[in-house]
Amino acid sequence: MSQRRILVTSALPYANGHIHIGHLVEYLQTDIWVRFQKLRGHRCIYICADDTHGTAIMIRARQEGTSEEDLIARMQKAHVDDFAGFDIQFDNYGSTNSPENRAICEEIWASIRKAGLVSEEKVEQLFDTEVGTFLADRFVKGTCPKCKAPNQYGDSCDKCGAHYSPVDLIDPKSTLSDTTPEIRTADHLFINIERLHEFLNEWTRSGGHLQPEVANYLAGHFLHEPLRDWDVSRPAPYFGFEIPDSPGNYWYVWFDAPIGYIGSTKQWCNRQGEDFDAWWRSDQTEIHHFIGKDITYFHTLFWPAMLKTAGFNLPTKVHIHGFLTVGGEKMSKTKGTFVRASTYLEHLNPAYLRYYYASKLTARVDDLDLNLDEFVTKINSDLVGKVVNLASRAAKFVEKSGLAKVYPDDGGLFQQAAEDGQAIAECYEKCDFNQAMRRIMAAADRANQYVDQVQPWVLRKDPDKAAELQDVCTVILNLFRQIAVYLAPVLPRLAEQTAELLGKPIAQWDEAQSPLVGTPVARFKHMLTRVEPAQVEAMVAASVESDLPSGPAATYNDGPGPLEAEPLTETCSFDDFLKVDLRVARIVEAVAVPKANKLVQLTLSLGGDKRLNVFAGIKEAYQPEDLVGRLVVCVANLAPRKMKFGTSEGMVVASGPGGKDVFLLSPDSGAQPGQRVH
Ligand code: MSP
Ligand code: ZN
Repeated sequence: MSQRRILVTSALPYANGHIHIGHLVEYLQTDIWVRFQKLRGHRCIYICADDTHGTAIMIRARQEGTSEEDLIARMQKAHVDDFAGFDIQFDNYGSTNSPENRAICEEIWASIRKAGLVSEEKVEQLFDTEVGTFLADRFVKGTCPKCKAPNQYGDSCDKCGAHYSPVDLIDPKSTLSDTTPEIRTADHLFINIERLHEFLNEWTRSGGHLQPEVANYLAGHFLHEPLRDWDVSRPAPYFGFEIPDSPGNYWYVWFDAPIGYIGSTKQWCNRQGEDFDAWWRSDQTEIHHFIGKDITYFHTLFWPAMLKTAGFNLPTKVHIHGFLTVGGEKMSKTKGTFVRASTYLEHLNPAYLRYYYASKLTARVDDLDLNLDEFVTKINSDLVGKVVNLASRAAKFVEKSGLAKVYPDDGGLFQQAAEDGQAIAECYEKCDFNQAMRRIMAAADRANQYVDQVQPWVLRKDPDKAAELQDVCTVILNLFRQIAVYLAPVLPRLAEQTAELLGKPIAQWDEAQSPLVGTPVARFKHMLTRVEPAQVEAMVAASVESDLPSGPAATYNDGPGPLEAEPLTETCSFDDFLKVDLRVARIVEAVAVPKANKLVQLTLSLGGDKRLNVFAGIKEAYQPEDLVGRLVVCVANLAPRKMKFGTSEGMVVASGPGGKDVFLLSPDSGAQPGQRVH
């Protein structure tokens, strides 16, 4: 097998949002593929970066009263931490706002100019005079010009599906300032991509560059008619790179974003002393992009056209995946299924999600569903029940003796799994991780049948069977190790634990081809625990966000009214404060009290079996069904009070004058029922 040289990328996440479990479909898919290639002995690098430019970042920086550079540095740190938490290992994680990227943008731009593909045209755009900026489509809302539905975004209508230009919206309003924007005309630069139509017809259809369904989609939706010129500039103010030969104009974020793949590679080359041309201008190098289906045409039309014009390597393959749904629905903030990477990590082991996604991912563009019940079952039955159990049931019996000197007769099990390595590798190679996992679990099933047959725990009771015990455990641990090798791209930590247990690193796929014999076995340390449904529930509860609009202008000009209405009380000692036992509690039941105007009857859980019955005057402010599952703070040692409808055993903590204006306090994610608040 000759060594391939492979450059792999994932899409560059936007700097204006946090990484969530939807993103992770892509970064885990890519990381698994890269780790697989490395394990196979290929030269493979994984390149990514933050996508930092555009209006959204500019606006957010203004709102937060900070600079764009500070904001993107902060977000980059958060992204890098999230990825590291999931064992996603980049060779370089850069930024599109880097000097390397700017230089390559200029180079590619010069080539496109030289090829005579650039033209200038006037464009009408909405301008917010209060904020002083042109408005990207999603910062405008108004009435649909076609069906007259109110409150639609600037580019398309949710109700009737019509696409239009924001200047055609009826009664448009800027979402930034709620003022009526005016129409302003500015010169924009366009790339005549139609000139590459023939090339794109050919490239999209040949060489296995795209999944067949993607090639068909492009043919049916874009390539069947002349391609429209691509608007690649934005007038100031804009956060991005100024176009050198067009002062006051900036490259549109989607121009410099994919170039970020090259810019980030350049950074890596400079750091490593690598030859840049060998990676981006060599037919010896494969380029693989992993992206989601929503950004298909940027990567399959514009991007190859730019690379072709500037003489860079074309992508060998663009691997496109579908979108994540949770329980068959779009991720939802109010349902708590829009889970941030960091929230997941507070509750669950990253290995679980790595394995779960691997078991669901195929080479097709289909959406992928995270079913939380299935998640629990799969982890517990596959990873814990079938895989880790093999090691835990055998290792302790050979801790002293080590593995047998000669590999015993196992009825052909090791050989069978060794031969299956080729088929498993092919599944990984073509991104059919689902099939790879099935084959690996089939090997685990065979190994478990063997364990059940030979029953090491019975053998160990008979001192005459010590040699036999050593033999069967040698078989079991070798079958386990084969599985750990095959799972290494998905579960790198398990591979490390296995290496520690058996004293040999797992650095090569071929480690699964020959058994270990005569080597010591370390003391068994637990490898992976079961998932408890409560952990998943806690993660979902911690992800619930109220759907109150998060107004854009966070200016913090809070009025003095509330404090004037209720001035501060006299000082209390710390001991006085400690008399009030405040606890985190979860609302596990909430029922409106039928005959009371204001009362909701709450059952609060303090964890375990501890429950408190509480009547709270929050009926006008909350729907009981919205309360179930959320965390609150309660006074847990309040003397019980008999009321008309029953006894109240505590109080939930809330602010506000009452009626509709009652605001329950929520602990931040990670807090657990029963914890004291002080
Ligand atoms: N910044 C652009 C990409 C520029 S690439 C030169 C972007 N960023 S993103 O943060 O919105 O998305 C990053 C990647 O994550 C995209 O490939 C996108 O398809 C993927 N996903 C984002 N949400 C997703 C799901 N809910 N499900 C699966 N993938 C998702 O697009
Ligand atoms: Zn409409």
